[in-house]
Amino acid sequence: MSKGTYYITTPIYYLSDNLHIGHTYCTVMADAMARFKRLMGYDVRFLTGTDEHGQKIQKKAEEKGVTPQEYVDTIVAGIKELWKTMEISYDDFIRTTEERHVKRVQYIFKKMYEKGDIYKSVYEGWYCTPCESFWTESQLVDGKCPDCGRPVEKAHEEAYFFRLSEYGDKLLKLYDEHPEFLQPDTRRNEMKAFINQGLEDLCISRTSFDWGIPVPIDEKHVIYVWLDALSNYITALGYPDDRALYDKYWPADVHLVGKEIVRFHSIIWPAMLMSIEEPLPKQVLGHGWLLIDGGKMSKSKGNVVDPVVLIERYGIDALKYFLLREYTFGQDGIYTSEVMLKRMNYDLANDLGNLVSRTVTMIEKYCGGIVPQTESRDEIDRELEAIAVGAADKVAAQMDKFAFNMALEEIWILVRRANKYVDEKMPWALAKDEAKKAELETCMHHLAEALRIVSILIYPFMHTTTEKMREQLGIDAPIVWEDTTRFDLMAGQKVARGELLFPRLDINKELAELEAMKEAQKAAAAEPENVPLALKPEITFDDFDKIDLRVGTIIKAEKHPKADKLLVFQVRMGTETRQVISGVAKHFKPEEMVGKNVIVVANLKPRDLRGMESKGMLLFAENGERLEIVTTSAQDGNAVSVRL
Ligand code: MSP
Repeated sequence: MSKGTYYITTPIYYLSDNLHIGHTYCTVMADAMARFKRLMGYDVRFLTGTDEHGQKIQKKAEEKGVTPQEYVDTIVAGIKELWKTMEISYDDFIRTTEERHVKRVQYIFKKMYEKGDIYKSVYEGWYCTPCESFWTESQLVDGKCPDCGRPVEKAHEEAYFFRLSEYGDKLLKLYDEHPEFLQPDTRRNEMKAFINQGLEDLCISRTSFDWGIPVPIDEKHVIYVWLDALSNYITALGYPDDRALYDKYWPADVHLVGKEIVRFHSIIWPAMLMSIEEPLPKQVLGHGWLLIDGGKMSKSKGNVVDPVVLIERYGIDALKYFLLREYTFGQDGIYTSEVMLKRMNYDLANDLGNLVSRTVTMIEKYCGGIVPQTESRDEIDRELEAIAVGAADKVAAQMDKFAFNMALEEIWILVRRANKYVDEKMPWALAKDEAKKAELETCMHHLAEALRIVSILIYPFMHTTTEKMREQLGIDAPIVWEDTTRFDLMAGQKVARGELLFPRLDINKELAELEAMKEAQKAAAAEPENVPLALKPEITFDDFDKIDLRVGTIIKAEKHPKADKLLVFQVRMGTETRQVISGVAKHFKPEEMVGKNVIVVANLKPRDLRGMESKGMLLFAENGERLEIVTTSAQDGNAVSVRL
């Protein structure tokens, strides 16, 4: 029976760069919580997505010479691929460029306007494009963005404003009456201080660029990207026109967000909801950052840790385990490869992987591969049993606090106890004494039971390992949380040794290889943007203008009868067809050239090449060792011109 609904969200990610391990951290936590709640019997809805509008995206697209829509479409595909690789179990993925979102954001804007909460004026102040935030002169720190420390731009434009200043008291009241609304406490105190400095009305429209959702009452303006983005949490549920999911899941149980965007989620978002008179989310949880080299990861510093590289080398579960086990929710944490590799070796390869492999091997060796019944129990057996059946409540209590690291620690108390149990029981010695058969069987049974329980407890964090463990233990029952409190389910299962769950890593070798990759990344980032190429001596325009370049179509191609390197082409250029010979036999088969449009240097003095005349030359581009044809879709015979 369902225990009720549980709605959890991640921030919707900006598409301006590929996601790094810091972004993955938040999504991995949300995924673990969603899986945990499902296992506990909740009807869970887990939402993630992408934040695709705004000045930053428009600028990036311009730099790349594509439309913003083309730009976001290519990046979003990569993000979805990453989540697929990581088996993130979201129920919905919202893109702010989707029609369902756009029309609902316009509705929200209009509703706030009709309420009298929006007015038109002129914005005069500063704007941080990377953060998409407005700042007043006095909020800047050394003239830079107080959040990210990057330069800000002056903005002076006609704009719509949200009467945020009128919500300060209501927000303070909310924090006081519901301290759980914003956690950890430190974040709430920061927000209180921010509000107590005096809340200004918020500029919520822009006219200096157009990549955004048009303001419904004034199409010259686009809606401020944060108003647009925050709305995703309800537009994805169909608010206001398709209410089935909205009525079922709203208000959200938790918005999981990084500490720098707590302000948007605990001030602007609740004020917007108050304005449209909708219920507020139950909780906003601000997590810390993963830092590297003493600061945030950044592409320009060349210290971005790519989750895909780590997954390829160590597997999804090892990476997820590390992220959830190593860091304390709410606090910043330092990422180092060494700490990660040690966790993987000690906790996963030594403690868990080794326990599974030795248990299965011993059951095969001593019990013909079949998990035995227990006959008798001594104190050590009972102690293991008590720790095993008591673990689930402890894990659940930690999960209630979003203390993923402590929840995993509770599970590892059991894993480590089971390893110690093997050392204490010494089954290899019991096996030598026929009189100790019952004791040996109890030992094998208890290890199998303990591992069965571990396999359920780790499911929210590492579900692939759960499946692998259960396969080796011969369990095909569904994964049921309540089964963690029973110790009598293993008897008669046929175990089967499988691959090592977590191979031991050679830490020094791994460190060296990761370091080499990092250096290569740094070198790439450090490469100067604009290095002049080594070129042939300069020519004048008149020199160049002497060359007559024409579009040609290859209508016939064959090998030169006397030279292996040469291909002989018949090239049509409008009214004329002529023979051109090129030294490209290594790169192209004659038949693949027929029908291709090429660019011909048409007024080149004819040359004799091994007894055949060549009138002109063709253009090719070098691509590493290979050659590519320089081609065009223009009609043959046409001139190829340069324009001043
Ligand atoms: N688009 C906004 C969120 C809108 S939600 C309505 C945004 N996007 S973001 O891509 O810049 O950041 C998304 C999340 O990633 C934030 O919660 C941020 O804190 C988190 N992280 C980015 N780098 C991080 C680390 N190095 N460590 C941990 N989390 C980090 O903000």
